[in-house]
Amino acid sequence: MNGHATVSNGASDKIPAESMDYFATNPQPPTLRFHSAAAKAFIEQHARENRRVAIVTSGGTTVPLENQTVRFIDNFSAGTRGATSAEYFLEAGYAVIFLHRQFSLLPYSRHYSHSTNCFLDFMTHNDAGAVVVENEYQKQMSSVLDRYRTAKKENTLLLLSFTSVNEYLWTLRELAIQIQPLGANGLFYLAAAVSDFFVPAERMAEHKIQSSEDFNPSHPDGEDGEGEEAPAARMEGKKLVIDLDPVPKFLKTLVDTWAPHSMIISFKLETDPSLLATKARYALEKYSHQLVIGNLLNTRKWEVLFVSAKEGERWIRVPAGRRTKSHTGFGEDMNAAHSGPAIEIESLIVPAVAKMHADMIANGDPRHAA
Ligand code: PMT
Repeated sequence: MNGHATVSNGASDKIPAESMDYFATNPQPPTLRFHSAAAKAFIEQHARENRRVAIVTSGGTTVPLENQTVRFIDNFSAGTRGATSAEYFLEAGYAVIFLHRQFSLLPYSRHYSHSTNCFLDFMTHNDAGAVVVENEYQKQMSSVLDRYRTAKKENTLLLLSFTSVNEYLWTLRELAIQIQPLGANGLFYLAAAVSDFFVPAERMAEHKIQSSEDFNPSHPDGEDGEGEEAPAARMEGKKLVIDLDPVPKFLKTLVDTWAPHSMIISFKLETDPSLLATKARYALEKYSHQLVIGNLLNTRKWEVLFVSAKEGERWIRVPAGRRTKSHTGFGEDMNAAHSGPAIEIESLIVPAVAKMHADMIANGDPRHAA
């Protein structure tokens, strides 16, 4: 398939000129056509069944340095927030399109993958030699399996994957346009860690960047009109030099044009606690959507800050004795006594979001008030 082909359903026609620059100069990924067809059928089914649809984005986006990609820039996100939240959206009655980084955590299987325990440790042989689940894991695994099977049987979970930031942006735009007929029944939960910088197609090296000067092609400076422009990632002497372009912020276009009637929830990630509330407020004001969920890298597993025009600011926190083990352990009170079973913070976030969404559907979106 030609990587530059236009979207077959004519959705591109509705995109405003300012956003088209990116899509005019960065090629459509080959997966888009399949993702588009799968999303269309999924959304039509749930529109008929009058079900709300949440688009949950999850995991980090890569920034390839070469077209035939050997090296790329990545980030920390494992997709825990997205995969866990997707399960709670399904529990709350939503159909979920899970737009995730390939090989990041998935709803349901997340309980047994990427763990320090190998999934094989959950299994044993019975007397007849058949493979069975160890007794101590039966109850929990049976519950996960039941929920997974229900989602499959009712076709309420659609898994779509991306790897690069370019694949992510093309697919997000396509989904936004596909979901428009659902009106306020659509919801975006943008938990993916999207790169802010990238290598544009026209400055991407085709082949693996050679680390040895002996094999390194020279790139005459294109600015004087002679020769081609140097690739964004290139060897200069013994140094690898990378100069990246900013990724356009698509949140504004998403809110105003791609999905103006959906509820949109963005996340704001910071590492400096003193900046979090200010940056979350700033994002809400700038993009004029319904909710920003602020979180800090080191405490994101047990506390988040909700910032919305309707309800102001409030922290959602898992009590100290009910926290799940953090990925890093950093900043957590490891000595806190356990006062009950662990609570995943997404089990508090998602019902609160669903309540705000129900309220928006019942009372209208204040953004559209006359
Ligand atoms: O996967 P985990 O390990 O569980 O981690 C979860 C998480 C910390 C990644 C998640 O909770 C989170 O905060 N995700 C958003 C991270 C992020 O991209 O934050 P930001 O401050 O860079 O961007 C804010 C918003 O702008 C995001 O919702 C993003 O969708 C949007 N954005 C970002 C970049 C860009 N070029 N355009 C955008 O529109």
